Amino acid sequence: MSVTNRSEIRVGILGAGTVGHGILNLLRDNAKTVEARLGAPIHVRRVVARDRAKSRDSMIPAERLSFDPAEVIADPEIDIVVEVMGGLEPAHTLIRQAIEAGKHVVTANKALIAEHGDALIELAEKKGVDLYFEAAVAGGIPILRVLREALASDRVVSLSGIVNGTSNYILSRMQSGNVEFADALREAQEKGYAEADPTLDVGGGDAAQKLTILATLAYGARLVPKDVHTVGIDAVGAVDMRFADRFGYVIKPIAVAKRAHAGQLDLRVHPALVAKTHPLATVNGALNVIYLEGAMLGPCIISGLGAGALPTAMSVVSDIMDVARNLMVGAHSRVPVRAYQGTSLEVQPVQPIGELRARHYLRVPVRDLPGVLAQVAGALGKHGVSIEQMVQDQKLPGTDATSIVLLTHEAKDAEVRSALEELTKLETVLERPRVLRIEE
Ligand code: NAP
Ligand code: HSE
Repeated sequence: MSVTNRSEIRVGILGAGTVGHGILNLLRDNAKTVEARLGAPIHVRRVVARDRAKSRDSMIPAERLSFDPAEVIADPEIDIVVEVMGGLEPAHTLIRQAIEAGKHVVTANKALIAEHGDALIELAEKKGVDLYFEAAVAGGIPILRVLREALASDRVVSLSGIVNGTSNYILSRMQSGNVEFADALREAQEKGYAEADPTLDVGGGDAAQKLTILATLAYGARLVPKDVHTVGIDAVGAVDMRFADRFGYVIKPIAVAKRAHAGQLDLRVHPALVAKTHPLATVNGALNVIYLEGAMLGPCIISGLGAGALPTAMSVVSDIMDVARNLMVGAHSRVPVRAYQGTSLEVQPVQPIGELRARHYLRVPVRDLPGVLAQVAGALGKHGVSIEQMVQDQKLPGTDATSIVLLTHEAKDAEVRSALEELTKLETVLERPRVLRIEE
């Protein structure tokens, strides 16, 4: 159907939470701009929620509110199903049913795309419909479009960044505001940044899902989230932030997807020390950032809000508009959504984390006794880990407990882990040392 004879684009939205409301607000406030750019208005025919007892604001007229997703899937008038419910089920089954029913789909669900994206995208191609998911990675930042379209002729060499707004918000608040972890998390939840299960944010699972999608588009790799070495921010203490600061670093929740040696991919999500002069160091709050290097382009950095109602809704509605443009000219799958043709995607080897070489930060809680320093240095040296800098904290009042905090020269991850085991066994070491990688 051509743009001239399509009077409106009709959508059904599964989910009426933070993002669902953001979409409704955006379509109300930006209706004129959207229509002027698309050539047709977007009409929301139905919004589906789960909890009948919840009070709903006037954004959703009663006649359009439903508690039955099947009504959207079965409605012949709906062109595009928008899934913003989250979680694997029933979202997976519903998207599959929508595609089977010939609907185009837009989703913000990174968990679903990271786990089942390949099968769903291949089903969509077979059925002649589009499946778009820009909002699934880095909220409002159009990074998937950049990888898919703007960099189509380039080869990505490395990609790193901050892709979880909640974790970045928490660490930024702890760093600058003397706020405890639990209070910062509560604030992030109140602002609508966190997942329904916030352990996905603070445990690194959400970032690993996003990195899986990013690495697929960047390197043409078939990956699943468990390919990503994942460590959460929950073990970062305010004390580590203070020591990092003394050495000239800040602690950030980073995600890395780089080409390592022998064609392997270095895929990891973890908190890391980054120098205060590093491009990621000043990206604070719920802001996300992606720093990539193209073989032709060279370095490129893109930053913006990675979570929140309106930035995320903006990505969702831009996807709806992209799908609608295809719909208007009777096209689909014109640009491969994974940036590579499905036949070109391949399983690629992932570098074992033990092989990674990095400098490390180590905080070793010890009894302040003669010879302790030599014991710590000896345990590290035995495993080939060499000390670059070191400070010792003042004793805790009324005790002989203190911390030796050091930065190592570059060492293999496996060597650092062995040294850690050795340190933990020392009688003078009071608790398991804290270790963080330093990202150069
Ligand atoms: P949310 O605030 O928890 O909203 C979820 C909505 O889905 C609620 O309206 C809920 O209904 C509805 N729902 C859940 N299960 C349902 C079911 N079985 N049947 C019908 N309705 C159901 O979540 P959100 O923050 O909007 O996130 C939605 C999705 O967007 C997730 O995949 C998330 O990862 C992704 N995302 C979120 C952000 C963000 O900043 N929040 C950013 C990027 C991507 P009730 O209202 O009745 O509870
Ligand atoms: N919970 C996610 C975050 C939402 O904090 O980044 C955006 O995907």
